[in-house]
Amino acid sequence: MDKNFYITTPIYYPSAKPHMGHAYSSIIADFFARFKKIDDYEVHFLTGTDEHGLKIQRSAEQQGQDPQKFCDKISQTFRDLSKKLNLSNTDFIRTTEERHKNTVQYLWKELEKNDDIYLSNYSGWYSVSDEAFYNEDEIEEVDGKKMAINSKSPVEWIEEESYFFRLSKWEKPLLNHYESNPNFISPDSRKNEVISFVKNGLKDLSVSRKTFTWGIPVPNNKDHVIYVWLDALTNYLSALNYPNTNDELYNKFWPASVHLIGKDILRFHAIYWPAFLLAAKIELPKKVYGHGWILSGDEKMSKSKGNILDPLEIIKEYGLDPLRYYLIKEVSFGNDGNISQDRLEDCINGDLANNYGNYCQRVTAFAIKNCDGKIPNKIEFQKDDLQILDKYKNNLDNIRLKIDDQNLNFYIDFIVKSLFEANKYFNDQEPWKKKDDPLRLNTIVYTSLEIIRKISYLLYPIIPNSSLKALKIFSLSESDIKLKSIINNESLSKGSNINKIEILFKKIEKKND
Ligand code: ME8
Ligand code: MG
Repeated sequence: MDKNFYITTPIYYPSAKPHMGHAYSSIIADFFARFKKIDDYEVHFLTGTDEHGLKIQRSAEQQGQDPQKFCDKISQTFRDLSKKLNLSNTDFIRTTEERHKNTVQYLWKELEKNDDIYLSNYSGWYSVSDEAFYNEDEIEEVDGKKMAINSKSPVEWIEEESYFFRLSKWEKPLLNHYESNPNFISPDSRKNEVISFVKNGLKDLSVSRKTFTWGIPVPNNKDHVIYVWLDALTNYLSALNYPNTNDELYNKFWPASVHLIGKDILRFHAIYWPAFLLAAKIELPKKVYGHGWILSGDEKMSKSKGNILDPLEIIKEYGLDPLRYYLIKEVSFGNDGNISQDRLEDCINGDLANNYGNYCQRVTAFAIKNCDGKIPNKIEFQKDDLQILDKYKNNLDNIRLKIDDQNLNFYIDFIVKSLFEANKYFNDQEPWKKKDDPLRLNTIVYTSLEIIRKISYLLYPIIPNSSLKALKIFSLSESDIKLKSIINNESLSKGSNINKIEILFKKIEKKND
């Protein structure tokens, strides 16, 4: 069985510093990467920055800076964010790196060789903010200004000599691919959107620009730079050292398992990218997942709208793991979601501080006091104990299936329910009333500790730092975490010391209460 997993985030434009939307995609990708890692997969997790094109060139000009220096500075803020978010990415790519430029020019030559590129003239609408060409029917006029209907970003008319990619030729093969690979585009609502767009007919795509210079030159015609999306999408391959097909990374990790993206860039990933790959005779990625938007009010949070929430400020105030947990739990994955500090505080107080943190605290304090600070030696499970412990064994396969389906909502529900049941079990069993029945007391404690271990394993992909803090109770560390061992009911080493646990989450005093 293929135990390699390659997940990517979009490579972000370093035109301004990162915001919550970028943090969201990255955290979700990190969740999947960590989940697969503890499920014994070898994981390659790629993120990075998309540094060419008119959008970046203009942003640099506005600041009176050289584009490369401008990118160096802002790309670094994205790299810093990936550290602050505790991402487990194995690479960070910048499209201004040599390794990337070579791959893009190679791919261009392949497309040209296969007669998929020709020189002509482009005239039409272009949005610099989206770096996208739009048809007349995708444009509307608002207050005398032409805008793209979907993204609400301004468009300008361009007319210039341009190379074209024969996208129209790939209409049928794309539709065939969607049909024979029903999971290629997820969730289903996005798939339907793409299929109906393609069925409406694809026009050839302009893939070079002549009126600015900030990009990768077209091989053999230095007057043109390669369209920034052809350039950017190729990052997924250049990071694996394509075209060196003998390369270990390429062999292990291509085709990608999932390109995780926001729905704003679905067309590029689900239509253009597979068309380029088909034309270059390269295998297609297994899945493109387009998640929803973090909204601010009713609008997409975006730097061009100025309605952004700074992830760094939230982390400073509440800590990283609460933010990670909150985004994964409260934004129903696949859909748009509003976020608020009020709900974040509820999550911290309820799920994290009470149901998880306090449970770990109570159980270990009780065990330290009543079991001599050691994991009980002699135990005998009864029906109640096995019922709560076996739940993990009974659900493991299903959890894996749901995660392969990106069903985050199922996963978080499972955890929330498990925490509720764990607390209920400890309360109902009343171990403090069993002091004259040490076997029963010990068994309840052992069971409760096993539950801490199992839930902490499941929480690790969401809140890695806090999960690791909890696992210190048993002197377990990151490399000990194996998803498959949640089926084991007696994995804790009997007789070994129980360590005190530091407070995992501080409760927030709510202003409105
Ligand atoms: O599009 N809610 O870069 P970008 C959720 N460089 N996710 C959001 C979001 C929001 N409000 N705002 C941004 C680009 N995102 C290209 C990508 S890939 C080959 C090139 C996330 O800086 C989401 O993943 O505009 C979205 O697709 C991405 O950031 C866009 O980032
Ligand atoms: Mg954008």
